[in-house]
Amino acid sequence: MVDHIQERLKRDFLANEGTKLVGGVPRRAIPASLMYYENGFERWRDVTSGPQFYQTRVEIELLEHYGAQIVELIEPGSLLIDLGSGEFRKVEPLLDALEATQKDVQYIALDIAPVPVEEAISRFRKRYQHIQSTGLWGTFGDGIEWLKKLNFSGPKWFLSLGSIFCYSDLEESVTELTWLATNAIGLQDRMLLGVDAETNRDVLWASYHDVEGRFERFISGGLQTSNKLLGHDWYRPEDWEISSVFVDETNQEIGHAIVIRAKHDVTCDPLGLKFSTGEEIRWISGNKKGPSTMRKIFTAAGFKELASWKTPSANFYEYTIARDQDGDGQKGPAIEFPYKV
Ligand SMILES: C[S@@+](CC[C@H](N)C(=O)[O-])C[C@H]1O[C@@H](n2cnc3c(N)ncnc32)[C@H](O)[C@@H]1O
Repeated sequence: MVDHIQERLKRDFLANEGTKLVGGVPRRAIPASLMYYENGFERWRDVTSGPQFYQTRVEIELLEHYGAQIVELIEPGSLLIDLGSGEFRKVEPLLDALEATQKDVQYIALDIAPVPVEEAISRFRKRYQHIQSTGLWGTFGDGIEWLKKLNFSGPKWFLSLGSIFCYSDLEESVTELTWLATNAIGLQDRMLLGVDAETNRDVLWASYHDVEGRFERFISGGLQTSNKLLGHDWYRPEDWEISSVFVDETNQEIGHAIVIRAKHDVTCDPLGLKFSTGEEIRWISGNKKGPSTMRKIFTAAGFKELASWKTPSANFYEYTIARDQDGDGQKGPAIEFPYKV
């Protein structure tokens, strides 16, 4: 896991060539896995337990409301793998609905943070008779390698709750789904994806700018973890100001990015880092996408949509998708950017 995060830091943060823009500003991407590593998950739990952080609440509402319909699609003998499982309270309504059907299935919680995996598995082992639960501590790549070795021949369900996949821009979303399709998702497998489509700026702003500063602590804590992994204290909280912006990019409803701005010149010679006063690092915290945008992504990544559900009280969607075997599944409008996967 350390290797994975270090490699991502070097590739996306240290070796940034400024070619990719977020809201018109070159971006140094900060790997999401860094933010949750070590105590990062506890800081994230703090964010999700805040009253303004609607994303967790509305996805739980959806899974409580439509869980019985969703699990009708899951065949007995399936293996569910929860990619970035996080807190058990999100997936639990879905598993409760599945248990009620008495279908025997396996559930795998995979996360880079060990604590939520342990909590979920010890809880689910007591709670369910028909669901056999296992925990995996590792990266998505580790989980996929583990699955290959398992050589499971039945249907697999890949869960991506909490906008884990497809939270970034369209190009990256297509790349991520294509990676999964190439390495793990077979023709008989399914994926359940929760994706936020909220566009109300006030609601979004409140969720990322809680008065207690939970979100800021999450960001700052992740950057401090990077000091340890890179072996140099390049990030000192007093040198940086953390704020955020809405970014307008094509092919998404609205984007929100965290802005980390240098208060004065910051250099870190061993890492070859040099930031001038005012220079920004932008980290996408969420690109909100509605159904028509998601269909473009599914089509471009070779998937078709089988079903979708919307949270009754909010703009949050859950999609079930499968590999598009004949390539003529849901045809979204042609995708409008030059992308390579
Ligand atoms: C936004 S949270 C979502 C958690 C949960 N699925 C939910 O909806 O509440 C992202 C989760 O993915 C995990 N994660 C992030 N990057 C990962 C990676 N590369 N490999 C494995 N887990 C990762 C984090 O530790 C965190 O628990």
